[in-house]
Amino acid sequence: MSCRRLDGTAAAAAVRAELAPQVAAFAVRQGRPPSLAIVLVGDDPASAVYVRGKERTGGETGLRVTVKRLPADTPLADVLRLVRGFNDDDECDGILVQSPLPAAMAADAEVQVIETIDPAKDVDGLHPCNVGLVVEGRPRFAPCTPSGVIELLDREQVPIAGRHAVVIGRSGIVGKPMSLLLLQRDATVSICHSKTADLAAITSQADILVSAVGRPGFVKPAMVKPGAAVVDVGTTPISDPELAGQLFGESSPRLVTLAAKGSIVVGDVHPSVADVAGALSPVPGGVGPLTIAMLLKNTLTAAEAREKRRRA
Ligand code: GUN
Repeated sequence: MSCRRLDGTAAAAAVRAELAPQVAAFAVRQGRPPSLAIVLVGDDPASAVYVRGKERTGGETGLRVTVKRLPADTPLADVLRLVRGFNDDDECDGILVQSPLPAAMAADAEVQVIETIDPAKDVDGLHPCNVGLVVEGRPRFAPCTPSGVIELLDREQVPIAGRHAVVIGRSGIVGKPMSLLLLQRDATVSICHSKTADLAAITSQADILVSAVGRPGFVKPAMVKPGAAVVDVGTTPISDPELAGQLFGESSPRLVTLAAKGSIVVGDVHPSVADVAGALSPVPGGVGPLTIAMLLKNTLTAAEAREKRRRA
């Protein structure tokens, strides 16, 4: 079976190319670009890389991206005060607080932060108001990773309506909204998770299989229907050359990258799934670039909606 690559880098570039003139037109009308505020608390290395990617790509697309970096021991109250400041700032259109927050913060810190963000500026789509709109089938800001998956499937002309889509993972940021967005596009959706009995019996029925569990190589060929479209949402940094060798083979160029950089990011889908699947999104170069592109799109949507409200 020849397996087609679902090229997230190309799809994301196309989304950004469509956004750029709209961003420029907003800047001409308003005398300032659409503006995104990102809050990064602590020194999680993966989060630092993701935030730099958002900052750089946003700037290249013409947005103003302001990153507020705070030490890991910042009190939650200070983070909430900062978020309220962005809520009140008329020149700020979108707010994102990078997850995860430091482990030492209160157990419900993420909930408190999300619920403090003005829903009209919640470009991550995580506030209960925006989650509710997705549930109702009229999304305002859908979370960026699952909307990036839909964008990738559409741009790669993978049909969704009437297909059986199986989502592995039920997180609030990917699995649940992913299932709802696929349902909204008329897929028949199954949601699998850590307590699912006979996972492979369900995943091997999928025309579209989306994995978001964060376990390297978790999805094996026996779990995949021949010809299925497989979307890998896993992004796990690994630094163990033995594990990388098991996943990719001892002669893979990925081992050279690991030796040079000290770690590589790997997906949930075992590379041998390419022998069975009809289409597969790689890690890196699959869903990741689209996550950023959808964040920029949501920020433009937020900016234009606020502009419209000001005119009304
Ligand atoms: N951490 C990993 N992905 C995301 C995301 O999409 N949004 C936020 N806020 N944090 C993340």
